[in-house]
Amino acid sequence: MLIPTTYRSEAVLAALADILLLRQPKFAWPERNHYLVEYSWGLDRLVEQVPDLQDAAVLDAGGAASPIQHWLAERCRVAYNASHHPGVVHASLRRANLRHVPGDLDEVTLPTGLDAVLSLSSIEHNPWDKIVRIARRLLLHIKPGGVLILTVPALERREFYEHGKWPEPYPRTFGTTYLFDATALRQLVKEVKDLAALVTPRPPAARKWRRDWRRERRSLDEAPPTCNRAKTLPYLSAGLVFRRRA
Ligand SMILES: C[S@@+](CC[C@H](N)C(=O)[O-])C[C@H]1O[C@@H](n2cnc3c(N)ncnc32)[C@H](O)[C@@H]1O
Repeated sequence: MLIPTTYRSEAVLAALADILLLRQPKFAWPERNHYLVEYSWGLDRLVEQVPDLQDAAVLDAGGAASPIQHWLAERCRVAYNASHHPGVVHASLRRANLRHVPGDLDEVTLPTGLDAVLSLSSIEHNPWDKIVRIARRLLLHIKPGGVLILTVPALERREFYEHGKWPEPYPRTFGTTYLFDATALRQLVKEVKDLAALVTPRPPAARKWRRDWRRERRSLDEAPPTCNRAKTLPYLSAGLVFRRRA
C-alpha cells in the first residue's frame, strides 16, 4: 500500500518526539520527512499485529542509529538492531535488552524465532536480487504467525541508480538506492509468497501510482517559503506487512 505523506499517529509520535528531535530532518518541513511518516506507520502496524509486545523478540533490520531500536527495547522483551553500522548511539541510550548485530543482512547470523521484523527505509539500498534474498532471509528468521513490516521509497518509475546517480531533479543520495514502483512491489510479494502472505492491501495499480505521484509533485507548490525546493523531492513511501506462514 502507499503510505500518504501526511500519515501520522499521534500516540507513536508522542512516544518518539524526544528522540526524533535529535535527528536532523531531511526535508525542509516536517510532513515531508519520510522517516517521520514511515516510523509512525511501521510502529502502528507493529502494535496492531503483535498484541503481546512486552513478550516479543523484535529485530530492526537496517536499524543503524535509528531511534526505533530504543522504542523497541523499552517495550519488547528483547530488541535487535542488525545493520552495517548498528549502535551508533550515545552511551546513555544503551540498554541491556538491546542487542546489536553488525554485518550484512544477507550474511550475518541473525536471531531466530522472532515475533516481528521491522525494516524501515533500508532494503532499498541493495540491488534487486539481494533485496529479494534479504526479504526471504528475514522471513525465515520469523516464527510462524510473526510479521515482517517493510517500508521502501516508492517512486513513479522502476529504476536502479548506482552510487548516487539520480536523474534530475532528484538530489544526490548516498549509496545505491532501488526505487520501487507498483510492479516492483508486486514482484516482491510474489517472490516471498511461499513463505508469507501479504497482510496489508495489495500494492496499487500503476495508474493510481502515477496519480498519487502527480498529486505529490503538485503539493510541493504548497510548501512554505522556508522550504528549500531544490532539495525537496516528491516522496512517497510504500509499506508492506507480511505474515509468516506456518
Ligand atoms: C537510510 S538508512 C535507514 C536506517 C534506519 N532504518 C532508519 O530508519 O533510520 C539505511 C540503513 O540500512 C542499512 N542496510 C541496508 N542494506 C543493508 C544490508 N544489506 N546489510 C546491512 N545493513 C543494510 C544500512 O546500513 C543503513 O544504515
